[in-house]
Amino acid sequence: MESSSVFGARLSLKQRYCLLLCVAVGATVVYHLTRNKTEPKRMNRSEGLRANSSQFTLERKPFRILGGSIHYFRVPRAYWEDRLLKMKACGLNTLTTYVPWNLHEPERGMFNFEDQLDLGAYLSLAASLDLWVILRPGPYICAEWDLGGLPSWLLRDKNMKLRTTYPGFTDAVNSFFNQLIKRVVPHQYSKGGPIIAVQVENEYGSYAKDKEYMPFIKEALLSRGIRELLLTSDNKEGLKLGGVKGALETINFQKLSLNDFSYLEEIQPQKPKMVMEYWSGWFDLWGNLHHVYAAEDMIAVVTEILKLDMSINLYMFHGGTNFGFMNGAFAVGMPAPKPMVTSYDYDAPLSEAGDYTTKYHLLRNLFSRYHTQPLPELPSLRERRAYQAVVIQQHLSLWDSLHFTDKPLKSEKPVNMENLPVNNKNGQSYGYTLYETTITSGGALNSKNNVRDRALVFVDKHFVGVLDYKTQELAVPDGKGRRTLSLLVENCGRVNYGKTLDEQRKGLVGDIELNQRLLRDFIIHSLDMKPGFVNRLETAGHWLSMRQWPNFPGFFKARFYVHSFPKDTFIKLPGWLKGVVFINGKNLGRYWSIGPQQALYVPGPWLHRGDNQVIVFEEQETDGKIQFASSPDYGMPVDVQ
Ligand code: GLA
Repeated sequence: MESSSVFGARLSLKQRYCLLLCVAVGATVVYHLTRNKTEPKRMNRSEGLRANSSQFTLERKPFRILGGSIHYFRVPRAYWEDRLLKMKACGLNTLTTYVPWNLHEPERGMFNFEDQLDLGAYLSLAASLDLWVILRPGPYICAEWDLGGLPSWLLRDKNMKLRTTYPGFTDAVNSFFNQLIKRVVPHQYSKGGPIIAVQVENEYGSYAKDKEYMPFIKEALLSRGIRELLLTSDNKEGLKLGGVKGALETINFQKLSLNDFSYLEEIQPQKPKMVMEYWSGWFDLWGNLHHVYAAEDMIAVVTEILKLDMSINLYMFHGGTNFGFMNGAFAVGMPAPKPMVTSYDYDAPLSEAGDYTTKYHLLRNLFSRYHTQPLPELPSLRERRAYQAVVIQQHLSLWDSLHFTDKPLKSEKPVNMENLPVNNKNGQSYGYTLYETTITSGGALNSKNNVRDRALVFVDKHFVGVLDYKTQELAVPDGKGRRTLSLLVENCGRVNYGKTLDEQRKGLVGDIELNQRLLRDFIIHSLDMKPGFVNRLETAGHWLSMRQWPNFPGFFKARFYVHSFPKDTFIKLPGWLKGVVFINGKNLGRYWSIGPQQALYVPGPWLHRGDNQVIVFEEQETDGKIQFASSPDYGMPVDVQ
């Protein structure tokens, strides 16, 4: 049979051409279909990451980890690939990410690993781009994230001892790990996936409340099928108490001191040295200046680390955003906790909106020397747009929005957020809670330091003042008859680091008093402002036109039209004081005029071509305009000390 015949028939030139075309198209389709699938590209597995001598080996060859952290939960899913490609083009070979338990299990026993939280898809994406992965599954992750990633419903138990072998904690960890680890196991190196190492907990040496705890977490990973190299990660101080037998200890720092290096050698001779968190920048707190860490200082330290033959992970390579109410708070060495801002730009090499920075270019130049092949071309940048300012069309007062919340609770005494009987008895995790009671006189209202974290106080809907950690007493004006005292208490974010994790209950965590008499008989509304509530609000008929003077706090609505393909932008609210922005139902996070952050990042993929809906929840003041900018405004910079 002749080579050019199919089923015995001779093919004309045209037919041959068609056949060739079909084969080529078919092959391209098959390639693209399989490219992003879970099946890993690297099928010829030999030996995973090993730490048997002073140098890591991977596939039995010396290997240096050039890693960077990007948290999938801080980057819109539509941008995962863009950010990872930019990571690759910077010369990094390993992606590290935490896993936020509180997002994956928002209510006890209710798990979410979909869409924005599709960890499996994120790991597959990394594999398809030839990035290795170091997974940091916690359960505690710190990360400037509410309660260091732990779900707030754990705090319903008044005896809870987080990060210990207290059964109420370990039972919850076991149940979460049953769901999480079975999704992770197939992505391990030994199964053909990208995960080459798994971190046991996070900086436990700085907490160290229970000797049995780290062995418990290690066993929880091993017993569920984790087979890759185990690591722990601690700062210099934490190293003294951190670590667990069978896991390689790594160190976290920003400025290199050779003492740190020799200390690691002392406690762990003849092992590879790794900086698990090389802090490329730093986080910001509301009311502080914006932290920057000079690019020249950063590159000098990274150069030194590489010269010392160490492995490195940049924390963060790309920080992203604390969308919603998920930011943590910082309390160490402070009279009261301070919440993290919404942006998690971190002054990292790749900016919040995915821009290359000086740090990026310096690192790329440096890392390129550690590759035999030229680095990939820089992926092109996304266009941004300063949309035209929009005018608020309608408003709805907080008091009128209460119809759209769950049934309020009547309670003799105040009940903290976590113990409210809402969300299928999981309590309220985030947002605001409104406590109302009747008073018959004015006088001294004292919070007895039970307000967590900040309360706007009203009498018959008239604003009286703010109670917080600093101001614990307010004068309530005298008035006739029975009046309603309302406290709108905001959870500004739970502390994510330090020894006070067990004390992070929010709302009113105890009694308050008027003229030294305890207030009783409360009606408590939970305002967690979840998407269902925002959607109900949006379609409600109670909105008033801006021609009528608005009541505060209130919701403010505007529509804006995007004519072409939606671009990334930043929302600026110079005429507003403090609140939250929702765009097409998505919570962009908090804004606060005290700064430092002055603009909120709006990812293009969250906008629609055509009509878009913005709802702003504002506590106190508005000029009725929403402005847009094409670049961020993180506020007055100050060097990281
Ligand atoms: C520690 C934690 C991280 C993060 C950094 C600071 O090292 O492990 O999660 O909180 O500090 O950004």
